[in-house]
Amino acid sequence: MEVNERLLAAEAEGDEAAVEATIRPQRLDDYVGQESLKANLRIYIQAALQRNESLDHVLLYGPPGLGKTTLAFILANEMHSRIRVASGPSISKPGDLAAILSMLEPGDVLFIDEIHRLSKVIEEVLYPAMEDFELDIMVGGENGAGGRSVRLDLPPFTLVGATTRAGDLSSPLRDRFGIVSKLDYYDEEQLSSIVRRTAGVLGSPIDEEAVHEIARRSRGTPRIANRLLRRIRDFAQVLNDGVISKEIAQTSLDRLHVDSLGLDEVDIRYLRGIIERFHGGPVGLEALANSISEETTTLEDVYEPYLIQIGFVNRTSRGRVVTEKAYEHLKITHTGALF
Ligand SMILES: Nc1ncnc2c1ncn2[C@@H]1O[C@H](COP(=O)(O)OP(=O)(O)OP(=O)(O)O)[C@@H](O)[C@H]1O
Ligand SMILES: [Mg+2]
Repeated sequence: MEVNERLLAAEAEGDEAAVEATIRPQRLDDYVGQESLKANLRIYIQAALQRNESLDHVLLYGPPGLGKTTLAFILANEMHSRIRVASGPSISKPGDLAAILSMLEPGDVLFIDEIHRLSKVIEEVLYPAMEDFELDIMVGGENGAGGRSVRLDLPPFTLVGATTRAGDLSSPLRDRFGIVSKLDYYDEEQLSSIVRRTAGVLGSPIDEEAVHEIARRSRGTPRIANRLLRRIRDFAQVLNDGVISKEIAQTSLDRLHVDSLGLDEVDIRYLRGIIERFHGGPVGLEALANSISEETTTLEDVYEPYLIQIGFVNRTSRGRVVTEKAYEHLKITHTGALF
């Protein structure tokens, strides 16, 4: 079911990044949830501003769509800094990174998305830059032969790295971040605030019950909440003079095949795969991924974190196990364990 997959994917799709830019909160005060992280960041920001220094390097990690990019932009805003944006896969040679670094001005924030995808040689350019604000570049010579290394001073800057896979980061890189924070899934109240706020930005009247209906079906993920809201807004515009009532929200979500917990077709295939082919588990990730034709990394980064969060799946040393709760949700009688 293609519609469903696109609708509930936590990653940004197509031109969604442009749409997101318009509804992204700009200030820490408008950033919903992640309370302890925000409280700490407020202290670090205030301290850095008082000392007239740049903020320590920040690493943000967690599943897609939870607000890492948003937070990076907010940090720059709150520090009254410019932000420069790059991403791991787009920096393919040490020279690419050197070019980015040498253009930095004092106090800039350098945001590197998907930072786990930097290669080892590039990481090595980053170490002295992060630690001592120094850049070693090779001049003359070809392919490192016959050249000499020149050391340049860089202005103080803040590196903000974002990743969905903190485990893939090398430990020397990880250790060079002063602030390392994991973003958590949002609860229904927090998602409700986000839905209310976005509806306000979009100028869409929305009933409180509709707000909660959307929040409940958003898999703890702001990006999905906003996406569902935008789709439902279309239904409301055509069918209900633009007002998002509870009925409009429910009808639209049902028509969009979003289940009551926001599970999509891949989640269901994942759960059914374990139940039907592996007697509910335990099953290794590789075997499961093969049997339902998905990538292991997609399952691990995008699907499993939420299924684990809602208590549908346990990761044990022997493999993945589906819990009783999942059987109930899928209305399947649990028989596997008896035999
Ligand atoms: N705490 C929040 N409060 C309000 N809106 C939020 C919050 N977090 C995220 N959003 C909204 O969700 C959308 C997705 O957030 P963002 O792009 O920052 O996620 P991400 O973690 O960078 O995802 P990815 O891993 O795919 O890069 C944004 O449009 C933003 O408006
Ligand atoms: Mg992002």
